[in-house]
Amino acid sequence: MKNQKILILNFGGQYDQLIARRVRECNVYCEVKPYTMTLSKIRAFDPIGIIFTGGPDSVYKENSYHPAEGIFELGIPILGICYGCQLLAHHLGGMVTAAENENAREYGKTLTFYDNSCLLFDGLDEESISWMSHGDYMKKVPEGFKLVAHSGKCPNVAICDKERKFYGVQFHPEVNHTENGTAMIRNFLYKVCGAVGDWTMESYMHRCIEEIRSKVGKDKVLLALSGGVDSSVCAALFAEAVGTQLTCVFVDHGLLRKDEGDEVEKAFEKWNINLNRVNAKERFLKKLEGIIEPEQKRKIIGEEFIRVFEEEGKKIGRTDYLAQGTIYPDVIESGKENAETIKSHHNVGGLPDFVDFKEIIEPLRLLFKDEVRELGRQLGLPEYMVMRQPFPGPGLAIRVIGEITKEKLDILREADFIFRDEIAKARMESQLNQYFAVLTNMKSVGVMGDGRTYDWAIALRSVTTEDFMTADWSRIPYEILDKVSSRIVNEVSHVNRVLYDITSKPPATVEFE
Ligand code: XMP
Repeated sequence: MKNQKILILNFGGQYDQLIARRVRECNVYCEVKPYTMTLSKIRAFDPIGIIFTGGPDSVYKENSYHPAEGIFELGIPILGICYGCQLLAHHLGGMVTAAENENAREYGKTLTFYDNSCLLFDGLDEESISWMSHGDYMKKVPEGFKLVAHSGKCPNVAICDKERKFYGVQFHPEVNHTENGTAMIRNFLYKVCGAVGDWTMESYMHRCIEEIRSKVGKDKVLLALSGGVDSSVCAALFAEAVGTQLTCVFVDHGLLRKDEGDEVEKAFEKWNINLNRVNAKERFLKKLEGIIEPEQKRKIIGEEFIRVFEEEGKKIGRTDYLAQGTIYPDVIESGKENAETIKSHHNVGGLPDFVDFKEIIEPLRLLFKDEVRELGRQLGLPEYMVMRQPFPGPGLAIRVIGEITKEKLDILREADFIFRDEIAKARMESQLNQYFAVLTNMKSVGVMGDGRTYDWAIALRSVTTEDFMTADWSRIPYEILDKVSSRIVNEVSHVNRVLYDITSKPPATVEFE
């Protein structure tokens, strides 16, 4: 069975992934493609609806981005968001201009008034907040279109042509600040495009297992298991599909969090697969001796990881397929130009060119993180695995600032465990996207009992974020921070000070190194 599909054409907006996530949340499958997609490719994709994203440009400028000619004659419903809305106006006989001092330039939360007779706003509040971010506006609404929303400043906030099923909104329904935003997207999908809601993780799981079985046959599959959500869900999928034909190599590089290795092993007990936990702790420590530069740490760990994996692969003998837990945001990101590398992300799940396999299989490459978690649940992975916060490939190596030693790693592991434990006890896990301890490279003076101490300072870091590109520091209640701090200084030797990081990203990054 094939899913209904929505096509999201990206015009360079920053919210393309967010739009896609909202559509999927409404149980409709969608993919993000560049605005340059040709008409024949669009036809072949066969979408039930198209969404134009926002973009930084002005539609009337030379060299601005425009969709394939003929797209408006395909008979497919279109929803244009911000720049996308202006494209509708520009191409269908309206007029878009710079908002200058016409009062129509809007940024941020804006009280907006909707005409509920328009299907997009059907059944929703007549007035609510929308999130605006536009410097241009539709001076003239195109022929055949009706004005269906306005704000205090701007008369032309949304347009619709019911006949041709074209809808345009100046604001961003995909952003959380827009009240009823997801409901508007849902209306577009179900009431305009005729979606039936056939995208669920349960049906995807069954289909995926069948596909893996028919592709792999009796061949062998190798997978690098990091213990993170993506590689674990990928492993569970293959375990369910091909059982003992799967070998997972789990490299324990000694840079994992407390008890992590055992937890991973336990989660996979229920499947009959070959799980090979390689103890490479000494080896990694030796390679990292004396190294303080973060990028060098990453490079060494990445390379060493591949060496270990290679050696283990040789022991197993020839395997036909390599399974990898690449997910959709990675795929979309990698398609973007000019993405500057701030840190060379080494993904332990992701692997090397050296591998000589018939084929690499990436069953999660069209899924968002939330969907991967849901798939994991469907497969019966425990909640502590599917809800695991992101953990960087280089592990604790980039959280021990400066030189890495076993002693420092042990101190950090204990402090980090206490932090996570208290967050769990306070039931705050789902409110924080990533939280961990860092062993700063600083010793300071303290007093304990009657004596002076000169010991390490631990920093606590916690962020809330939608996509990790930007992040805000978490406002954890003082009482919880207080408990974490007093437990760390009391229970972990050689720590006499605990600091809380109150910097957002940018200018800081999530990790310290
Ligand atoms: P930064 O520090 O770049 O982190 O703001 C953003 C997210 O990426 C994770 N991160 C990494 N993940 N290998 C990884 O697999 C890395 O080298 C790496 N560096 C940062 C970080 O934990 C956060 O979730």
